[in-house]
Amino acid sequence: MKNKAKHITVLLNETIENLKIKKNGIYIDGTFGCGGHTNKILNKLNEYGRIFVIDKDPKAIEIAKQIKDHRIKVIHGSFSMILKYAIKFNIIKKIDGIILDLGMSSMQISDKNRGFSFLRNSYLDMRMDDTQGITAAEWLQKSSEKEISQVLKNLGEERYAKKIAKAIVKKNKISPIKYTKELVEIIKNSTPKKDKNKNPATRSFQAIRIFINNELSDIKIALKDSLKILKNKGRILTISFHSLEDRIIKHFMINNSKQINLPKDIPLTKTQLDKINPKILKIIGRIFPSKNEIKNNIRARSAILRIAELNK
Ligand SMILES: C[S@@+](CC[C@H](N)C(=O)[O-])C[C@H]1O[C@@H](n2cnc3c(N)ncnc32)[C@H](O)[C@@H]1O
Repeated sequence: MKNKAKHITVLLNETIENLKIKKNGIYIDGTFGCGGHTNKILNKLNEYGRIFVIDKDPKAIEIAKQIKDHRIKVIHGSFSMILKYAIKFNIIKKIDGIILDLGMSSMQISDKNRGFSFLRNSYLDMRMDDTQGITAAEWLQKSSEKEISQVLKNLGEERYAKKIAKAIVKKNKISPIKYTKELVEIIKNSTPKKDKNKNPATRSFQAIRIFINNELSDIKIALKDSLKILKNKGRILTISFHSLEDRIIKHFMINNSKQINLPKDIPLTKTQLDKINPKILKIIGRIFPSKNEIKNNIRARSAILRIAELNK
C-alpha cells in the first residue's frame, strides 16, 4: 500500500476482539482510511466471508482498490448511506458487524494540499470528499459573522468564537482568506495567549472541518440505520475522538437500550411487546486506549471505543 503518512490504527486489537468475527460473516468498515481494520478483518474471514468498505475520501478508496480480494467490495461515499448500500447489495439484516473509526486519518492530516492541519500551510479545503461540496475557504467567504461564530462555538466549543468570526469577515472583505496560515494568524490575533500547550487554532479548525464534512449528522444517520441492517447479535463499534461525537454515540446507545418495565401480569405476545418497546441494543461497553498505546500514538489520547449488540 502506498500511503503518504503511516496511519496507526487506534484500538485495533480491542476493536477486532469485540467485533467477535465469524469466519463467514458479513462486515462493514464504514471508515476504510488506510485499511487498518479492514485488513485485520479480512485475515479472519474464510472464503465465504465478506467486507464492504466505505470511505468519503477518493484517496482512501484508491488504497482500498489495491486490495485484490474477492471478499471485499469498495464503495466511495458516506457511511450515512449504509441503508442505501445495504439495500443495493442485498445485505439487509445480514450484517454481523459495523465499524466506524471516526475523524481523519494521518494520511489526510499530513497531506499538504488538503488544509486539515493548522501546522502546514495549504489551501483551506478541508473536504474529506474533494469531488463535491464547498471548501472551507469558500464557506468562510460566503458566510456571515453570525454563521461562522455559531459553527466555531457549537462545533469547536470555542470561547472566542465571536471575536474570531468578526476578524475572519473583516479580513475576507479586504482579500479572501485562502490558506491555512492566514486563518491561523487571524485566530492567533483574536485570542489571548493562554494555553501554551494547545495551538489556539485547534478548536476552530475542528469546528470548520466538522461543519464542512457534515460529520455529526452523518454519524446520527448511520447509527439510526445500523439498527435496520444489522442481523440479530450483530455488533456496532464506534471509535470517537472528541466529546461531540462521543455524546451522540453514547445517547444513541443508551436511548436504544432502555427497557420499559411492564407489570409481569400484563399478557402480551413478543410481537406486541416489541412494538411498544423497540429498544433493541445491548450495550457491551466502552474501552479507552492504554497508557502504552497513547505513548506510541498520541492521536489515541482522546479515543473511546463503544460497543453495542443488536438484541431482539
Ligand atoms: C480515522 S480514519 C480511519 C482509519 C482506518 N480505520 C484505518 O485503520 O486505517 C477515518 C476515515 O474515515 C473517513 N470518513 C470520515 N467520515 C466519513 C463518512 N461520513 N463516510 C465515509 N467515510 C468517512 C475519512 O475519510 C477517513 O479516511
